[in-house]
Amino acid sequence: MIEKIKNLFPKENEIPKDYDVKPIIADEYLLNGKIVKFKGEFQDVYSPVMVLNKSGKYEQKYLGKYPLMTEEHSQKALNAAMNAYDKGKGVWPTMRVEERINCVLKFVEELKKKKEIVVKLIMWEIGKSFSDSEKEFDRTVEYILDTVEALKELDRNSSKFIISQGVYAQVKRSPLGVVLCMGPYNYPLNETYTTLIPALIMGNTVIFKPPKFGVLLHTVLVESFAKSFPPGVVNTIYGDGKTVVGPLMESGNIDVLAFIGSSKVADILKHKHPKPHRLRSVLGLDAKNAAIILEDADIDVAVKECVTGALSFNGQRCTALKILFVHKNFQNTFIEKFVREIENLKFGMPWEDGVKLTPMPELDRVEYLKSLIEDAVKKGAKIINEFGGESNGTFLYPAVVYPVKKNMRLWTEEQFGPVIPFTYFEDIKDPLDYVVNSNYGQQVSIFSKDPKRISALTDVLVNQVSRVNLNSQCQRGPDILPFTGRKDSAEGTLSVSDALRVFSIRSLFAFKGTEENKKTVTRILKERESKFISTDFIF
Ligand code: G3H
Repeated sequence: MIEKIKNLFPKENEIPKDYDVKPIIADEYLLNGKIVKFKGEFQDVYSPVMVLNKSGKYEQKYLGKYPLMTEEHSQKALNAAMNAYDKGKGVWPTMRVEERINCVLKFVEELKKKKEIVVKLIMWEIGKSFSDSEKEFDRTVEYILDTVEALKELDRNSSKFIISQGVYAQVKRSPLGVVLCMGPYNYPLNETYTTLIPALIMGNTVIFKPPKFGVLLHTVLVESFAKSFPPGVVNTIYGDGKTVVGPLMESGNIDVLAFIGSSKVADILKHKHPKPHRLRSVLGLDAKNAAIILEDADIDVAVKECVTGALSFNGQRCTALKILFVHKNFQNTFIEKFVREIENLKFGMPWEDGVKLTPMPELDRVEYLKSLIEDAVKKGAKIINEFGGESNGTFLYPAVVYPVKKNMRLWTEEQFGPVIPFTYFEDIKDPLDYVVNSNYGQQVSIFSKDPKRISALTDVLVNQVSRVNLNSQCQRGPDILPFTGRKDSAEGTLSVSDALRVFSIRSLFAFKGTEENKKTVTRILKERESKFISTDFIF
């Protein structure tokens, strides 16, 4: 095993041809509908995958570079987005819903043409397995198509007139303004688009900044955006957040902040806005989801779900199970099976068939995770799986740490990596207290077959978190379900249909039901004179 970890990384010539990519020099960006050549400094991009260099040392594979923009660049992007929105008078915010849908459908066609390169770049830039990178791409396409259907449904339902107390009203939804979209590195395509697409389709204009890792995959899509949307509707910025994002927020001209990342950064960004009451925020933030395994649980189901829940994409999911509470009566059997299941997980390079554990984007992540393990061990916990915590460069073999106690960093810190803190309980009060007092409130998993226990626990837990999962890991999907959280975990709700709501506001057209008014409105509808006042049925 140690040998396998030591020899994990390939030589350049051992990389299978079908998966290899040439370095991408991304020297163009999208501004006001035009693809502009960038002049300035660049940021080099390296993969989590390390390869042997000429001097016989392993180093992260070079993938290319992207523009390190300045404040001036981001100001230009903001101006373009503001002009395209034109205080709600622009072509895009006043366009018929059907026409906006057509632009988004055109974009999906363009996006599909780029599947091969985008999937490869997800894999190379963040180290996600090839099959999971493919799944991320397909899930994104499906999400966009579902969004289109959800908008049609929303439009159909709101096209009828409501009559009350002699007032006739058509209640619809209108855009909010300029949206700043920033997605996370663990789902660089999917989670960026789960805010970007609903924001666009509702008539907002967008500035979007890719995450720290997973930038190049967005640079190959600028042409697809340029071909699909009117000028200024989508604008991309790249570079250091402090330089390019800070000034945008300080300008007070961002109407919606759509951000998926840490609550610390979200707070910094929100505080920069001079008129916070004008800013809407749609945030997906930190989480420390717990699994509570009761004494009557089906151990095999619990083990399987907890291993996937804790280790899919090396635990780099906001929904990952980040602490496990196992009932004392069968903790030994559970732990034994859990450790065995981990030993069966294939680790290696992301292109390998069936690989489950892969390298992480930064060497610093490995150091950070090791410091969490060290802290727990110093305070009395043990690594209970063989080779747990062994590392090589950007790769860390999963460590199961037991028993984790209140005074250890792993008790509260969101590890976001392959370290699994375990603890046991006799009284259900202990895991409940943990969830109740946690700073986070995203999801929880309970494992049990007892209807009474499940009901009692769920009734309390639904007031602590926003999703209680029975006998399964925590997860965001299916995407039609609401995805949100309490406390430091989220602001606003995302799902295919909820996202359309968070990026828009209800607006209505109302009139007193006089004969004259009815005649006038009938004429507007017949002649299709308004884009808002309309009873069109979008097929
Ligand atoms: O990183 C957080 C993601 O939203 C999790 O999504 O549960 O589908 O992996 P997932």
